[in-house]
Amino acid sequence: MSCNAIVTGASRGIGLEAARALASRGCDELLVARDRAGLEEASRELSSKYGVKAIPRPADMTSRESEAIVDEARSLLGDIDVAFVSYGNPPCEPCEPADASWDDWQYAASMYLVFPARLLGRLARVNGRKATVILVSSFSSRSPMWPTGVSDVVRAGLPAMAKLFSRAYPGSLRVIVLELGSFRTPGAERLIGELARREGVSAEDYWSRVASMSPLRRLGRPEELRELIAWLAFSPEYLTGVTVLFDGATLQSL
Ligand SMILES: NC(=O)c1ccc[n+]([C@@H]2O[C@H](COP(=O)([O-])OP(=O)(O)OC[C@H]3O[C@@H](n4cnc5c(N)ncnc54)[C@H](OP(=O)(O)O)[C@@H]3O)[C@@H](O)[C@H]2O)c1
Repeated sequence: MSCNAIVTGASRGIGLEAARALASRGCDELLVARDRAGLEEASRELSSKYGVKAIPRPADMTSRESEAIVDEARSLLGDIDVAFVSYGNPPCEPCEPADASWDDWQYAASMYLVFPARLLGRLARVNGRKATVILVSSFSSRSPMWPTGVSDVVRAGLPAMAKLFSRAYPGSLRVIVLELGSFRTPGAERLIGELARREGVSAEDYWSRVASMSPLRRLGRPEELRELIAWLAFSPEYLTGVTVLFDGATLQSL
């Protein structure tokens, strides 16, 4: 059976792992991020390793032009089976909430709420197949921590969004929020590196502290993430409007 997917934040980190997981299941994909070169590199890897179509589509998810993505993906690939929505962080992070500017809050609201809402809305209106949509969030959106507090607070709205769209369009959408623990991605390296620098400790020491937040005393592994995403994307239909916490039973935040 054919599978067509949209993956955002697909040039690195969580989004790239999702793109690999879906390609390994035979999905052709539209890959979204801002930087074309990063997308082209991901596209070359996915098409040569998995033999799928992987089409780069540079777009900024904080901008209104990103509303066109569902229509473009359908015209390039056909009806959509899976959308995996990952993204970056607002420019100020890591930052204290009092130091986040108007633009930082607006950036977060556009990227984490407006973009997914419009993507879901467009899928509900035009897609000819029922789509599974996975929206990335964080374990810390349940108990915000200061370095990523803007993201945490805004993404606290995603479980409600998943319920809303799953209830309103049960024939066309199945929406799952994926709240992640800690994975050593390029974005996380940047955040942790900056926090370590501010405290005057080494990045490795800071990573050990992050790992110790889980009783497993380790970070999440990319292969675990790919396995879960591949399973969620094709999981039973009854799993809908739900929030999945994948955080190694993390006990505390930074
Ligand atoms: N890593 C973790 O442990 C972890 C845990 C919990 C939650 N998360 C969340 O998961 C998301 C992904 O994290 P990550 O670690 O994979 O980050 P990452 O390594 O920095 O990757 C971010 C991806 O999103 C793209 N992107 C960023 N801003 C964008 C924008 N405005 N429009 C379009 N694309 C954009 C980036 O490409 P361009 O820069 O080229 O646009 C890149 O492909 C983040 O929101 C993070 O808060 C991560």
